[in-house]
Amino acid sequence: MNVVIITGASSGIGREFALQLDAGLYTVDEFWLIARREERLEELAARLDHMAKVIPMDLTSDADMDHFRKRLKKERPVIRMLINSSGYGMMGNFNRLGRQEQLGMLDINCRALTDMTYACIPYMKRKSRIIMMASSAAFLPQPGFAVYAASKAYVLSLSRALREELGPEEIYVTAVCPGPVRTEFFEKAEKHEDTLAIKKYSMVEAEDVVRSALTASARNQGMSVYSPLIKGLHLLTKVVPHGVLLGIVQKMK
Ligand SMILES: NC(=O)c1ccc[n+]([C@@H]2O[C@H](COP(=O)([O-])OP(=O)(O)OC[C@H]3O[C@@H](n4cnc5c(N)ncnc54)[C@H](OP(=O)(O)O)[C@@H]3O)[C@@H](O)[C@H]2O)c1
Repeated sequence: MNVVIITGASSGIGREFALQLDAGLYTVDEFWLIARREERLEELAARLDHMAKVIPMDLTSDADMDHFRKRLKKERPVIRMLINSSGYGMMGNFNRLGRQEQLGMLDINCRALTDMTYACIPYMKRKSRIIMMASSAAFLPQPGFAVYAASKAYVLSLSRALREELGPEEIYVTAVCPGPVRTEFFEKAEKHEDTLAIKKYSMVEAEDVVRSALTASARNQGMSVYSPLIKGLHLLTKVVPHGVLLGIVQKMK
C-alpha cells in the first residue's frame, strides 16, 4: 500500500499539505495523519477524498514512537512521501523562557523529526520524497528566538546531508524555508514576547508556501524558499557577514 505520512496535520502548514496532496496525488492509497489533537485529524480525514488513517500521537513520546514503529513493521506500507511539519517556536530571550519551553523545541523540531525520518526511510522506495519543514530562521542566528532558529538550522543541515546520502537511492529530500506564515504558530510563539513588526508585515499564506514546496519537491529541488523578501534575505545571509546582519536586526528591535 502506497502512503503519505504527514506530521503536524492537525493545523497550519501540515494540514494544508494534506489538502493540496489530496487534490493532486493519484498514486497514493492512503494518508496517515499525525498530531496530538485527534478531533482535528478526524475532521481533516473526513474532508479528504483519499482514505486516511488518523494517528493521534505525541511525537516527543518514546512510547508513542515505539508504537508507531511497531505499526510500520506490521503494516509494511510503501512510504511515497513523508512530510515532517510538526514543530513549534517560542520567542523570548534565552534565559527568560522556561527550561521546558526551550528543550521542548529541540525535542519536537529536531529529535522527533530525526526519529520519524529514521523510522520511515526503510519503507521508502525509488522516487519517494521527504519534505522537511525548516524555516528562514535557519539562515541566521536569531537573538530573542535563539533555540528555535538553531533548531531550524539543524533541520536544514540534516536535510541537505540526507539529500546527498539518499540521492543514489533516488529518495529526494526538500527543506522548506519560509518566513512568517499565517497559522496558529504565532499564538504559541508570542506567549511571552511579540515578534518583530517587519515579520508581521511579511506574513504569507500557508496555501502559497505549500504549493511552492510541492513544486520544489516534484522538481527534486533541495530547498524551497517562498516569497521575494525571503529569497532576498537568503541571499543577504550568503554574502553579508552575519555579525553585520545581527547588528542591523538588534537596531530594528
Ligand atoms: N508559521 C510560520 O511562520 C512558520 C515559518 C517557518 C517554518 N514553520 C514551521 O512549519 C511547521 C508547521 O508550523 P505551522 O505554522 O503549521 O504551525 P501550527 O499551525 O502551530 O502547527 C504545528 C503542528 O505541529 C503539531 N505538533 C506540535 N507538537 C507536537 C507533538 N509533540 N507531537 C505531534 N505533533 C505536534 C501540532 O499538532 P498538535 O498540537 O495537535 O499536536 C500542529 O499540527 C513547524 O515545524 C514550524 O516550525 C512555520
